[in-house]
Amino acid sequence: MPSESKRGAALRRITHYNPPNNASQRPQAMRDPSPAAASELPDYLRETYTWAYLDHRTVPWLDRPVVVSAILWGNASRLMDSAVREFSPGQQVLQAAAVYGDFSPRLARQLGDEGQLTVLDVAPIQIANTRRKLAPWPQAHAQVADLTEPVGATFDAACCFFLLHEVPPHARRHIVANLLAAVEPGGKIVFVDYHQPRWWHPMGPIMALVFRYLEPFANSLLADSIDTLVPECAGFEWRKETCFGGLYQKVVGIRR
Ligand SMILES: C[S@@+](CC[C@H](N)C(=O)[O-])C[C@H]1O[C@@H](n2cnc3c(N)ncnc32)[C@H](O)[C@@H]1O
Repeated sequence: MPSESKRGAALRRITHYNPPNNASQRPQAMRDPSPAAASELPDYLRETYTWAYLDHRTVPWLDRPVVVSAILWGNASRLMDSAVREFSPGQQVLQAAAVYGDFSPRLARQLGDEGQLTVLDVAPIQIANTRRKLAPWPQAHAQVADLTEPVGATFDAACCFFLLHEVPPHARRHIVANLLAAVEPGGKIVFVDYHQPRWWHPMGPIMALVFRYLEPFANSLLADSIDTLVPECAGFEWRKETCFGGLYQKVVGIRR
C-alpha cells in the first residue's frame, strides 16, 4: 500500500498539470487502478455500500440518470446544476468521489477546454466507470485515491457531491480537512449533501427509514454543520443554502 507521503508526492506532481491523453505517458498515480487497490477499500464502504458502489452487477443500473433522479426525489438535475454553476471555465477542479449519472460530464463541460477536472475515488470499479463517462472529455481524468488521506495537490476549487453522508464521522472529518487543504488561497469548496428536513416535510418519515436502514452515517451528518466540522473551516468564508423543504444543502466556502 502506498504510504501517505508517496501518494501525496504522486498527486503533487499533477497539480496544475495537463494529463497526456495517452495513459502510458501518465504518472504512476494516474495509471489504471491496480487489482491491489481493491484490498485498500475502507471497511465502512465494503460493509455498508458494496451493493451500491462495488458490485459490477448493480453499478450499471444505479448509474442511470433516471435512477439518480428517483433517489433524489426528482431533484438530481437541479442539485447538479446548482453545484456545477459554482465553477468557471478554465478552472482546475477536484471532484471528491465518483457520482452516478452525468454529474462529472456536466462539470467537465462547465470547465471547458482550458479547465481540468480530476475525479478521485477509492473504488477501482467507480474509477473505471467514471473514466468511461469522461472519455469524450480529454481535460478530465479519474484516479484511485482514498480521500481520508491527504490529497497532496492543490486546485482552484473542489466539489464534494453527496459523499459526506456516506462516511462515518471520523472519516468525514479527515475528508473535509483534506479537501480544504487541497483548495488554494482564494479558491472555492462546494459541498452538496443531505440536510435535516423541516418537521413538516412529507418525505421526512420515508427519509428517516432510508437513513436508518440504507444510509447509517447520514444522521450524524444532519447533526453537524459542515462549515464548522474541522478547525480548518475557520480559514474559509462560508455561505449555505437549503432546498426541497430543507432536505438538501449546498455549503460553499472561499479560502481566505
Ligand atoms: C460520492 S458518494 C455518493 C454519491 C451519490 N450517492 C451518487 O449519486 O452517486 C459515493 C462514492 O464515494 C466513494 N468513497 C467513499 N469513501 C471514499 C473515500 N474515503 N475516498 C474516496 N472515495 C470514497 C465510493 O467509492 C463511491 O464511489
